[in-house]
Amino acid sequence: MTPRAATALLLLVQIFLVADASLDNSTDAVGSLEDSADEYNRIDSDEDAAEPAPDDDEPRTPTEDPGTRHDDDDDVGERLLLTPLLEAGHLDEARQLSRVKGAPFPDHVESYSGFFTVDPQFDSNLFFWFFPAEKNYEEAPVIVWLQGGPGQPSLIGIFMEIGPFSVAPDNVSLQDNPYSWHKNYSLLFIDNPVGTGFSYTNNQSGYATNQAEIADGLYTAVLQFFTLFPELQENPLYVAGESYGGKHAISLAHFIHNRNPSANITINLKGLFIVSGFFDPVSCLHYSEFLYQVGLLDFNEKKAVKIMEQKGRELIRQGNYKQALHVSNSVHVQCNSINSPHVI
Ligand SMILES: *[C@@H]1O[C@H](CO)[C@@H](O)[C@H](O)[C@H]1NC(C)=O
Ligand SMILES: *[C@@H]1O[C@H](CO)[C@@H](O)[C@H](O)[C@H]1NC(C)=O
Ligand SMILES: *[C@@H]1O[C@H](CO)[C@@H](O)[C@H](O)[C@H]1NC(C)=O
Ligand SMILES: *[C@@H]1O[C@H](CO)[C@@H](O)[C@H](O)[C@H]1NC(C)=O
Ligand SMILES: *[C@@H]1O[C@H](CO)[C@@H](O)[C@H](O)[C@H]1NC(C)=O
Repeated sequence: MTPRAATALLLLVQIFLVADASLDNSTDAVGSLEDSADEYNRIDSDEDAAEPAPDDDEPRTPTEDPGTRHDDDDDVGERLLLTPLLEAGHLDEARQLSRVKGAPFPDHVESYSGFFTVDPQFDSNLFFWFFPAEKNYEEAPVIVWLQGGPGQPSLIGIFMEIGPFSVAPDNVSLQDNPYSWHKNYSLLFIDNPVGTGFSYTNNQSGYATNQAEIADGLYTAVLQFFTLFPELQENPLYVAGESYGGKHAISLAHFIHNRNPSANITINLKGLFIVSGFFDPVSCLHYSEFLYQVGLLDFNEKKAVKIMEQKGRELIRQGNYKQALHVSNSVHVQCNSINSPHVI
């Protein structure tokens, strides 16, 4: 299956998941709308300054066995910062240290994880988790997977969408995902931008304020990834972004395309794909007609959602982004309350 076919399939699966559920008017939907708004206000507030990360950024030593670290609930170990090792040319050591081992992670899934420093001035570091393709590793395309939000960790992609395992119903152990994309593709998940998931900075000024800064950080991380896995440098690379991550995918791909001609490490960028993209609100806020045509909204629901969409676009045009976000969230809640993990 080509990545393009895979994306189409994922979209179809999402639509079909929705098809057998009914539009629901539950307080949950209202609750998540309020949550989203609260979340937004919180992010928007200057009081919520950078929480300085603990001062524990010494790279882990090879004598520590990462597999035993979860035994002590109070001690989760130290962050594995790989950049100093890469800069010193200690690739084997970096690789060995980043290998994910031990319960609850299944032995038959090989993976690597750690942090790449993307801005030394502010001590900004991106967290990644890499799953080599099970089949045809030498030739298989590499897919960079970026979650949306903004602010969603790419662990969502691993545990809930395309990764090798998910959390089992006991809420403790992991179960295999037989449809994991890592069977045929190498998958690089990155928590992006800095401040998302495990990715962090030690200075308020380390947070990205525009797409160029986000792309720059991602690009730096991808270059370090190919330094750590030089055998993959020639493999086709696809950048995938879900939802708002579509924006990051476009930015990163554009950045690679521009940088490649003068770069020391040329990235074999072949394409990008956007899953349930939400990268341009004015043109994306048009779900009602499509969802009506495929039978997911009835006539009255379509009319109601369409009014909200028009209102959202109008508010954007007026520059009233906070209200626009509120309305746009209502559209999402309304459509997603038909009960998909992520319809739009
Ligand atoms: C949705 O909730 C409102 C307020 O509780 C109620 O008036 C309305 O009848 C509900 N609609 C449906 C379809 O249940
Ligand atoms: C797992 O977590 C969910 C969500 O919190 C909860 O509904 C469910 O009862 C939990 N299952 C077990 C076995 O604890
Ligand atoms: C992997 O590719 C094989 C054929 O190349 C296909 O049969 C299989 O379904 C693919 N697996 C996944 C999980 O996409
Ligand atoms: C953050 O960076 C600015 C600009 O370089 C610097 O003036 C400031 O001292 C830094 N703050 C901390 C907490 O490191
Ligand atoms: C490429 O590598 C050379 C030699 O290591 C270095 O001097 C140069 O700055 C690098 N160029 C870029 C664009 O990184």
